[in-house]
Amino acid sequence: MAKPKVVLGVSGGIAAYKACELLRRLTESGHDVRVVPTDSALHFVGEATWSALSGNPVSTEVWESVHEVPHVRIGQAADLVVVAPATADMLAKAAHGLADDLLTNTLLTARCPVVFAPAMHTEMWEHPATQENVATLRRRGAVVIEPAVGRLTGVDTGKGRLPDPAEIFDVCRNILNRHSLARGAAAGPDLAGRHVVVSAGGTREPLDPVRYLGNRSSGKQGYALAKAAAARGARVTLVEANTGIADPAGVDVVHVGTALQLREAVLKAVADADAVVMAAAVADFRPAVYAAGKIKKKDDGGAPTVELVRNPDILAELAAERALPGQVVVGFAAETDDVLVNGREKLRRKGCDLLVVNEVGERKTFGSEENEAVVLASDGAETPVPYGPKEALAETVWDLVLPRLRSAT
Ligand code: CTP
Repeated sequence: MAKPKVVLGVSGGIAAYKACELLRRLTESGHDVRVVPTDSALHFVGEATWSALSGNPVSTEVWESVHEVPHVRIGQAADLVVVAPATADMLAKAAHGLADDLLTNTLLTARCPVVFAPAMHTEMWEHPATQENVATLRRRGAVVIEPAVGRLTGVDTGKGRLPDPAEIFDVCRNILNRHSLARGAAAGPDLAGRHVVVSAGGTREPLDPVRYLGNRSSGKQGYALAKAAAARGARVTLVEANTGIADPAGVDVVHVGTALQLREAVLKAVADADAVVMAAAVADFRPAVYAAGKIKKKDDGGAPTVELVRNPDILAELAAERALPGQVVVGFAAETDDVLVNGREKLRRKGCDLLVVNEVGERKTFGSEENEAVVLASDGAETPVPYGPKEALAETVWDLVLPRLRSAT
């Protein structure tokens, strides 16, 4: 089988040196990578480095090897174009269709998925001009990874760092996998222009400053859902509770602790969302009183009684009061007995469109990398998902959400 062809566009930012690691990961995992730097990128990392690491010739402008028509061929032949780092200037050029060097020409001729990994100072990222350019690119189907937060070039810190090369690589690999799985030309970023909200992890309900009531949810399934949606071009808000997992690239992450905090964050995020997937394990009960000081043992040998109160059912609330007409609401249910019977009853009770039902058992569900489930739909359809990686279940969930989304405006 021919190696997938990847164009690595590099624009002129200090983070260009990090693109060397992305390049190495791409070549080592069997991709044929053609590096197309801009002239300014070569101020940071020279042509020899790109050429040696990629094993391919490197040029920046359209006037070399003109007989091969590189400004058209490179983009046409690519299975994926990833621009890392993408400077504010590069995003602006791409959004406006300028084509004054080989990379911008390549972007105009590419018909494959395109990923931008921006890196710039916080002010430049937050400037309305850049934000509008990013919105334009996303609307057209490009995946623009959200920059990371951290130390920037100087002494300053903020949003604008190039995401970790390993994360950019993950995004590229997911897109390429999906692209090769979905046969034919229709395999674009099918969630482009959509906003989806995913909750993940398990809430913790504090009893006192050192103790809480919690559950065993790892958050892996929710993260797989968020990453899969981002790879399919969606803008993703991930509301995360106590997972300890690093923020995935290209996803807006809101960190929460308790069920009430998760409810508040999810309700805020769904205001303009096309779909919401509640993969989080939300505590049904919380201690009625939070003890401001640590609860101490008494000398009489007795144990305290903890009174619990009910938490709101967020999924049922989302389904009953849809923030937008036609918003798709998806729930999860972990069951130990009569899995399907309980699942069907839960789908009805919660009023959601889809319910992913899985059986809690060894090697499945909590903390594991794999899952097996049946996705129940409110129209009676039932889709079994065989035992496999949580990423595969995530793709099936989005495949089932897709036809239920209201038509794009
Ligand atoms: N959920 C929620 N709010 C809660 C509890 C659960 O939004 N307070 C959501 C979960 O995120 C999940 C779904 O509801 O998507 C199913 O959760 P589950 O705990 O299985 O359902 P319960 O209604 O709590 O049913 P059970 O009586 O079986 O615990």
